Amino acid sequence: MGRDWWPDEVAHAGAEHLDPEYVAAFDRKSPTDWSETVESLSQLGVGPTSTVVDIGAGTGTFALAVQPYVGRVIAVDASPAMVAWMRARGIEAVEGGFLTYEYEGERVDLVHSRNALHHLPDFWKVVALDRVAQMLEPGGALILEDIVYSFAPSEAAKAIEQWLEHAPTNSAQGWTAEELAEHLRSEQSTFSWLLEPILDRVGFDITDRRYSENRMYAAYTCRLR
Ligand SMILES: C[S@@+](CC[C@H](N)C(=O)[O-])C[C@H]1O[C@@H](n2cnc3c(N)ncnc32)[C@H](O)[C@@H]1O
Repeated sequence: MGRDWWPDEVAHAGAEHLDPEYVAAFDRKSPTDWSETVESLSQLGVGPTSTVVDIGAGTGTFALAVQPYVGRVIAVDASPAMVAWMRARGIEAVEGGFLTYEYEGERVDLVHSRNALHHLPDFWKVVALDRVAQMLEPGGALILEDIVYSFAPSEAAKAIEQWLEHAPTNSAQGWTAEELAEHLRSEQSTFSWLLEPILDRVGFDITDRRYSENRMYAAYTCRLR
């Protein structure tokens, strides 16, 4: 099948993610304690013989946290700068994206993705999640976290204004109101009540769903039927 009508994932990956200086400062801007996710792995049947794929892996902090507990972690990212950073940390990193990464081998036990799917518009989210489903064993797990809006349409203005009001002011330590406003204007985050039927449609049952208190983030654990 020709791919001339497919989007260029690198062009939509966020210019900042392609910038080595931004990459070097990323872990300070977005520090994460992955211990809760790592603890949840055994319940998902993910262990020492499992293969895990992290898509939109960024600087690879999830890959590093999970590596001691599984057989293999493949960290996929569309940004060459992120991939170079991960390789320098000893991670098995692959340049590619939701729409271009071609997994070869036995089907995997877990696909993880945090804060990356919003780079694709909804049509391509469907294609991306269908490709994720093709990578997984039946019964395999998907952990998907992202900026996902769980407020009602009529509450949008109030919820967004509160989000921006509470944003940090130092860009080195988090996403400022200006950065979040740019996200709203130009990125493709969607509503929980649009994303959840997509997950169902491509074959996933949502087994755990968490919305942040400000209704801007969602975390899903899903099982492939
Ligand atoms: C906000 S960062 C999140 C990094 C990491 N997952 C984390 O939670 O710390 C988003 C990452 O997604 C990558 N990305 C953007 N579009 C992508 C795509 N279509 N496929 C794979 N990765 C993508 C970017 O290069 C960037 O590294």
